[in-house]
Amino acid sequence: MARADTGGRFFQPVVAMKSKSVGLKGLSHKSLPLRACLLVVALLGLSACGGVDPDSPLGQRKAIFKQMLKTSEDIGGMLRGRLTFDGPKFAEGAVKLDALSHAPWKHFPPVRESEHTSAKDAVWQRQARFQELAKALETRTGELVVATQQLQLTPVNMIAPMNNVEDACDACHKEFRDH
Ligand code: HEC
Repeated sequence: MARADTGGRFFQPVVAMKSKSVGLKGLSHKSLPLRACLLVVALLGLSACGGVDPDSPLGQRKAIFKQMLKTSEDIGGMLRGRLTFDGPKFAEGAVKLDALSHAPWKHFPPVRESEHTSAKDAVWQRQARFQELAKALETRTGELVVATQQLQLTPVNMIAPMNNVEDACDACHKEFRDH
């Protein structure tokens, strides 16, 4: 099949091979769509497969923020009754969230990306304020960890420190993220 000669050749072969691979179950051709996709990434120097290159600063901080959201929902859900409260798991999640809260900031490059970012220009224009709110989150997640260590692990005891963490997320998003 002379698939590479068609117009729009970066995208059509992927689609064509995807449907073809269904009929080739068990053969090594199955991995072709993925390989074609990776080739596209290599050729274009950006991610055509997910929109954002996962290795770029943007891709890395988005991944960290997503993990932060997942972790905070996992433990926040225990306080709101969506998940069963499990003390040790809550404490573990707090430690994880605290580690994550230090991680995104170094992935904001000196100049704002032109595409795919939902960070406002203000991140770069008011860096001191941005860093202040980043520090505030780190402080709050640190306090949450201390609460899990010093207070009895009950939902009631965890509500206030967890609220503080969530407020720190919201405060920064209000000023620095476009929704
Ligand atoms: C100091 C500022 C700041 C704090 C604190 C902060 N964020 Fe964010 N967050 C941002 C910015 C800026 C973006 C946009 C990143 C981009 O697209 O370049 C963002 C994006 C996100 C995203 C979207 C990621 C994506 O896939 O596009 C999620 C989810 C998120 N944050 C969750 C959280 C959670 C949960 C917390 C608290 C535990 C938190 N953030 C705390 C600034 C912050």
